[in-house]
Amino acid sequence: SEVIQAEKYRPKFHFSPPANWMNDPNGLVYFKGEYHLFYQHHPHGTSWGPMHWGHAVSKDLITWEHLPIALASDELGMIFSGSAVVDWNDSTGFFDGEPGLVAIFTHHAHSPGGNSIEKQSIAFSSDKGRTWIKYEGNPVLTSDKHTDFRDPKVFWHKETEQWVMIVASGQTVCLYRSPNLKEWSFSSEFGQGMGSHDGVWECPDLFALPVDGEETALKWVMFVSIGNEPHVPEGSRTQYFTGRFDGLAFIPDQSSQMTRWIDYGKDNYAGVSWSDVSAKDGRRIYIGWMNNWKYAGETPTEGWRGAMTFPRVLTLETRNGDIALIQHPVNELESIRVPQIESEGNSSAKLSSICEGMELETYELVAEFKWTESVDSIGFKIRASGQEATVVGYSVKDESLFIDRTRSGNIDFHDDFSGRHQAKLQSSQQCVKFQLIVDRTSVEVFANDGILAMTDLIYPSSDSLGLSFFCDGGELLSYKIAIHKLG
Ligand code: FRU
Repeated sequence: SEVIQAEKYRPKFHFSPPANWMNDPNGLVYFKGEYHLFYQHHPHGTSWGPMHWGHAVSKDLITWEHLPIALASDELGMIFSGSAVVDWNDSTGFFDGEPGLVAIFTHHAHSPGGNSIEKQSIAFSSDKGRTWIKYEGNPVLTSDKHTDFRDPKVFWHKETEQWVMIVASGQTVCLYRSPNLKEWSFSSEFGQGMGSHDGVWECPDLFALPVDGEETALKWVMFVSIGNEPHVPEGSRTQYFTGRFDGLAFIPDQSSQMTRWIDYGKDNYAGVSWSDVSAKDGRRIYIGWMNNWKYAGETPTEGWRGAMTFPRVLTLETRNGDIALIQHPVNELESIRVPQIESEGNSSAKLSSICEGMELETYELVAEFKWTESVDSIGFKIRASGQEATVVGYSVKDESLFIDRTRSGNIDFHDDFSGRHQAKLQSSQQCVKFQLIVDRTSVEVFANDGILAMTDLIYPSSDSLGLSFFCDGGELLSYKIAIHKLG
């Protein structure tokens, strides 16, 4: 029964560590047919502790093979977050002229006075990431200006033929450049007066994407995760900027304080994108840690703790005159779909009866609605039984998408867990589209073709398998729905 207890909240198709603690995704790189996923890991307990890089690989982003720990804490400190690249041309000289993998990460230690000391280091692997050697010249980059100086994300900038590092530095990010990943020169700093400063800046990312699929119209996207401060009720969140990048400096499109979040749920943090997938199929694939530092140490699993979001493809599209980040679950999802129902019509009663006939634990639900003016809110109750349910819907009067997990099941493990989360979503002509990805202990909602993402953990009872539709205050005009079991 201990095993059953530990496994009952285990996601079916989201990544989770086999045992013990996990936080941020690290070292995301695609190489020789494998997606590598490293992660912040404490191998000796289910709480945060001396950090290592755990490791897994996948061929399809769905099924993961767990591998031994890749990087362990050492005399320079713990191994904090970072990235990995394919050194295609052996710029490091580590690989005898062949391509190989290089990890770039933060060594985190403390001075005798208790201040944190953070330095960037590298390690390399000549055997597809199976074994790693730390570079003897570590650290490769230090700062006497910043005590918070971590989470390097490195990429090859082909226009200027150099490696570029973006690294968090207090409440800004710094950019550096290097010919060989060993020697780094300062390029620029970004962030003052920009976006949210609700907490320390962490886990940045920087990459180019075509706008509306036009390869000739590239824009740069920067991600910055915002550390958890006790006075900020939302806790952990990730913001993004769009702009230009010339190899040295990032010039934002937005001129001011306006903050755009990549996810408006509570549980998506420290996410970054995979390196080198572009060589395969041009996709920019993202994954986040599906958690929030407010309560990450208390979530009710046993023997293991933490899960990742489902991997998502990122694009930029012009919507309502604005360039917006669009997210879709990777289409590998199709491989685990088991079709249940597809229906369209205009009767609320019919849609309700379709839903009520179903028992669903892990599934995808895609729905599109049109309604009459008087409708107040419309949506679904998922993972429901008796009084228990997670409500996912659209509030017409607030023009907002919401997830309400106040009655979602086990909510008592932390005061900040229960709640209703909402975000503005324009509905043109009383019409909205949802895509829900539901696993044992999470729901991810993508609204109106990926313009808004909301990710929330839930801990429903295992027999809460009900689904119901609601349309309050008016009439449904038409619906389309498709449901697939997943896994
Ligand atoms: C983000 C973070 C990173 C750091 C890591 C430590 O969640 O705080 O800034 O590298 O976690 O585990």
